[in-house]
Amino acid sequence: MKIVVIGGTGLIGSKVIRNLRARGHAVVAASPASGVDTITGEGLIEALTGANVVIDLANSPSFEDAAVLEFFETAGRNLLAAEIAAGVRHHVALSVVGTERLAESGYFRGKIAQEKLIRESGVPYTIVHSTQFFEFLGGITQSGSDGQTIRLSPAFFQPIASDDVAAAVADFAAGEPRNGIAEIAGPERVRLAGMVRRFLLATHDSRKVIEDPHARYFGAKLQDDTLVPGANPRLGAMKFEAWFAHTQSAQ
Ligand SMILES: NC(=O)c1ccc[n+]([C@@H]2O[C@H](COP(=O)([O-])OP(=O)(O)OC[C@H]3O[C@@H](n4cnc5c(N)ncnc54)[C@H](OP(=O)(O)O)[C@@H]3O)[C@@H](O)[C@H]2O)c1
Repeated sequence: MKIVVIGGTGLIGSKVIRNLRARGHAVVAASPASGVDTITGEGLIEALTGANVVIDLANSPSFEDAAVLEFFETAGRNLLAAEIAAGVRHHVALSVVGTERLAESGYFRGKIAQEKLIRESGVPYTIVHSTQFFEFLGGITQSGSDGQTIRLSPAFFQPIASDDVAAAVADFAAGEPRNGIAEIAGPERVRLAGMVRRFLLATHDSRKVIEDPHARYFGAKLQDDTLVPGANPRLGAMKFEAWFAHTQSAQ
């Protein structure tokens, strides 16, 4: 199969490409770095010619509310139109568990718009909903940071290693379109504030985590179950401490 990975230079994109090439697929890494831009449309038609599957793993370069919405709407429209013209048979996109419950957040309004365009495009699709990557724990810590304290919700949280995300995305891309959502998550269900304490301990960061049920997650209020999957998600194998040791030894 010819598979095009939009955002092929990114954290997940580069791992998905390695995974699919190891299985013998012809994989094209597409991103502005290789002359393919879903915002301007540059290089899209050429990249998609003869493609069976497109995997969209791009992310907005700016996380400012209006910029994220503009990115996912424009990129989604251009990409799906090019897929229809090229006769692509399966569109796979990576989004976030609970996206539909997080509309108070500007970032998630962008992901909601991306998913709506996919559902309405007519291209057979699989939307993979992942929980937060372990690699994103630093960003979450920063988002709650206020001097020497970090104020975070005690809502449930089930983060996953990017290697496990990439393996799952590759499997879904090699399979049949679900025309729906497939959920993936990490092996442990914990509390968000508690996981960040483990992250601070591992990184020798002495800041204190304060649990605050009213603390917002990138602008959105959290209920206990907002960030965690429903019944029967596919689970990654790697736990936080193993992931941390693995990333340290890779550096
Ligand atoms: N962070 C999390 O915990 C989490 C959880 C669940 C789902 N997700 C989703 O996972 C996806 C991938 O995230 P990631 O962390 O792997 O992303 P990332 O490392 O930030 O990579 C972003 C990719 O997007 C590409 N890109 C940017 N603008 C583009 C454009 N105009 N046209 C084509 N490609 C463009 C970049 O290409 P260049 O390198 O050429 O600029 C890069 O390859 C995102 O959609 C995100 O919503 C994230």
